[in-house]
Amino acid sequence: MSVLPATLWRRARIVPCTSLQAAAAAQADAIVTEGERIAWVGHEAALPPALRERCATVRDCGDRLVTPGLIDCHTHLVFAGDRAAEFAERQRGVSYEELARRGGGILSTVRATRAADAAALLAAATPRLESLLREGVTAIEIKSGYGLTLESEARMLEAARELGRRHGIAVRTTYLAAHAVPPEFAGRSADYVRVLAREWLPEIARRDLADAVDIYCDRGAFSAEDAVTLFEAARSLALPVKMHAGQFADVGGVAVAARFAALSCDHLEELSPADAARMAQAGMVAVLLPVAYYTLGQASRPPVALLRESGVSMAVATDCNPGTSPCASLLLAMNMACRLFELTAEEALAGVTREAARALGYADGRGTLAPGAPADFVMWDLAAPYELSYWAGMNRCRTVVRGGIVR
Ligand code: NIG
Ligand code: FE
Repeated sequence: MSVLPATLWRRARIVPCTSLQAAAAAQADAIVTEGERIAWVGHEAALPPALRERCATVRDCGDRLVTPGLIDCHTHLVFAGDRAAEFAERQRGVSYEELARRGGGILSTVRATRAADAAALLAAATPRLESLLREGVTAIEIKSGYGLTLESEARMLEAARELGRRHGIAVRTTYLAAHAVPPEFAGRSADYVRVLAREWLPEIARRDLADAVDIYCDRGAFSAEDAVTLFEAARSLALPVKMHAGQFADVGGVAVAARFAALSCDHLEELSPADAARMAQAGMVAVLLPVAYYTLGQASRPPVALLRESGVSMAVATDCNPGTSPCASLLLAMNMACRLFELTAEEALAGVTREAARALGYADGRGTLAPGAPADFVMWDLAAPYELSYWAGMNRCRTVVRGGIVR
């Protein structure tokens, strides 16, 4: 058995994110990484001599704050074009839902994305990804959903996988063909869902392009029955599911998601106490998307106190997309989660680390600093962990370590 090169990272103020309490009280000051994993975390004084001896390299973290690599667990990062003109329309008072009814909204990005080849999709997504990487993001979820044909959805997912390979980061891809009804199926949304569930999804799975399946279940989008059709197909392929739910209206999606033990329900501006209980029971994560809420100027916000009381864990993500969240800053999303949704700073940090990992189905310690977890962590020029959420538009990321290597 070959011995992997070990590195000792010393003089770190470690925020392990293994629990809310641990996030509040940083105690450990050293990490040992072995290859791409963390082997040990603790006080350097307590480092076992045998392990110390194996550390061929010693790196000084300069007494900086060290957190797990951040995880953006809900993005639509791959798309062509933009919707800046719609932003201008919205400033004149036209609503997001009205723009969608006029054939704009998601469908306008579908037109641009269908016309883009693989190289164009990659070129468009790269600066968005780079913005996130500069903030210490080391894992990201990327959805399809702007192609709405088998081949254009596949092209988006291939681009997402390619971004992961090029940048050496962990990418989880999500098949979101149930994002809007394409013009070919206008007025026949149930037919569309049957096709994307029974014909396209098996092919996407055969090509190993999706790690999960998502549906936009809302007023003006897909119904709870559509979610059943799609989730049954996902289940037969052993693919985990998740859902855009309750952004504008509660159409019964969360109950379906709970029945299928979805990884997460995302948005949740509209959520009943009964559904919060279902989410807790099923162990689903509530992914909060404060930048979309902010961009749309929504009237109601997710019932954070209810989620907390019900014991539902909360994640925070950018929802980076051209319509409702033209944002490639997870730090800004953390700030907004605190200021707009009243998360505590500790919850916001857990929401972009440990809980974001859960929302993506990671079960290897990703999102925490603990033995066995990926050696992905960030050194910050900050005094305390709550400062990550305090700044609104200020990036104090100093050094990113991915797979045990400084990037
Ligand atoms: O997460 N709600 C649906 N999907 C996206 C918006 C996509 C778009 O407008 O292009 C969201 O907010
Ligand atoms: Fe979204």
